[in-house]
Amino acid sequence: VWIGSGLLESIGDWLPEQCSGKRCCIISDNTVYSLYGKNVTTGLISAGCDVVEPFVIEPGESSKSMNVLRACYKHLLDQKMDRDSMIVTLGGGVPGDLGGFAAATFMRGIPFVQIPTTLLAQADASIGGKTGINLEEGKNLIGAFHQPLSVISDLCTLNTLPARHIRNGLAEIVKMAVLGSETLFEQIETNAHQCLALKMPELAQILTASCILKAGIVERDETDKGIRTTLNLGHTIGHALETADNFSSILHGEAVALGMIAVSHISVLENLLDRNTYRRIRALLSTLKLTVSVRDIDVHAVFSSLDRDKKSRSGSIHFVLPVKLGQTQIKSDISRNRIEQGIRSILDTGIDEENPE
Ligand SMILES: NC(=O)c1ccc[n+]([C@@H]2O[C@H](COP(=O)([O-])OP(=O)(O)OC[C@H]3O[C@@H](n4cnc5c(N)ncnc54)[C@H](O)[C@@H]3O)[C@@H](O)[C@H]2O)c1
Ligand SMILES: [Zn+2]
Repeated sequence: VWIGSGLLESIGDWLPEQCSGKRCCIISDNTVYSLYGKNVTTGLISAGCDVVEPFVIEPGESSKSMNVLRACYKHLLDQKMDRDSMIVTLGGGVPGDLGGFAAATFMRGIPFVQIPTTLLAQADASIGGKTGINLEEGKNLIGAFHQPLSVISDLCTLNTLPARHIRNGLAEIVKMAVLGSETLFEQIETNAHQCLALKMPELAQILTASCILKAGIVERDETDKGIRTTLNLGHTIGHALETADNFSSILHGEAVALGMIAVSHISVLENLLDRNTYRRIRALLSTLKLTVSVRDIDVHAVFSSLDRDKKSRSGSIHFVLPVKLGQTQIKSDISRNRIEQGIRSILDTGIDEENPE
C-alpha cells in the first residue's frame, strides 16, 4: 500500500513489476475518470501497459449491481482481455468493490491494482481484499476475497473530493483508532483540524497508521471468522440506521459515527467503558463535524432492521463494544432495553446527551 501526495504523477514508480507488458483495463466512474483518467492512462502506458478502453460507470452505489457487472464482463471480453490481463480500479469504494469483484471472477480471477480516490476507500475499502456487489435484497450480498497486487493512494486526489466525503472517511479512521489504537486516537484528537483541512503530513501519518492497523487485523483473519469482526464497531446500529433511512440522506461513515456513539453509550451502561472515554469519542466525532445526534430516527424501523440482521445471523446480534481506547469486547447478550437506550442516546431531544445515565 503506497500512500503519498502526487503519486499519480509518477504512477509507473508505484505499480508492481508484473504490470509491465500486460493488457490493462481501468474501471472507474464518470466523475473520477474525467478528473484523473487521463493521468492514470498515460502513467500506465509509460509503465509498459497495453491500456484498453476503460469501463466507466455512473457514480454511486446503484452501479454496484448485477447489471453493471454483466456489462463489465462483456466490455472486458470486447477489449480482448484474457487470463494474463489485469484491472486497475480508479475511484471510491464503488468502482473499487465492483472492479475488484470483476477481477476476482473474470476468467477465474485476474490481478488488479486499486487506486482509491475517496478517504473512505483509502482508509477502508481498498484494504483487506473484500470485493463485491449489491443485490436488490441487500448490500454486499455477493462478493469474494481478492487481494489487490497493490494499492496506490494519492492524497492529492482528495483535493477534489467534497468535504462531506472527507468527514465520511475520517469516521472510519476514528473507528479504527477506537478499536485498535489509543495512540492513533490521540493523534487524531491533536490533528483534527489539520485532517479536515487536508494538511500534510498530518493526514498522511494518520491515514498510514490506520491502514497499518487494518492490514494487521486482516492479516490475522483474512476471511472474517474472528478478530476481523471487531472492524464492525459502530456498524450494527450504523447499518440499521442506513437501512431505516433507505440509504437516502445519510452516508455510510456518518451512520458508523452515530453507531459508534450508540454502542459506546451501551458500553458505559454495561459498566465496560468509563464515561470520560465515551465523552472523548463523542467529542472527537463532533470536532470532525460528524453528526452526533439526529432528530428524526424511527426507533421502530431501526429495530426491525436489527431484527432482520439477527435472523440472518442465526438468532443473535453481536455487538462490538469499546472497553477502552484501542480495545473492544464482543457481546451477544445485550438486552433489548439496553439497545434501545443506545439508540435513544443519539436522538436529538434538545437535552444534553453527553452524560449517559
Ligand atoms: N471492500 C471493503 O472492504 C469496503 C469497506 C468499506 C466500504 N466499502 C464500500 O465502499 C462504498 C462506499 O465508498 P465511497 O464512499 O468511496 O463511495 P463512491 O465510490 O460512491 O464515492 C463517493 C462519491 O465521490 C466521488 N468521488 C470519488 N473520488 C473523488 C475525487 N477524488 N474527487 C471528486 N469526487 C470523487 C464519486 O464519484 C462518488 O460520487 C460502498 O459501496 C461500500 O459498501 C467497501
Ligand atoms: Zn464501514
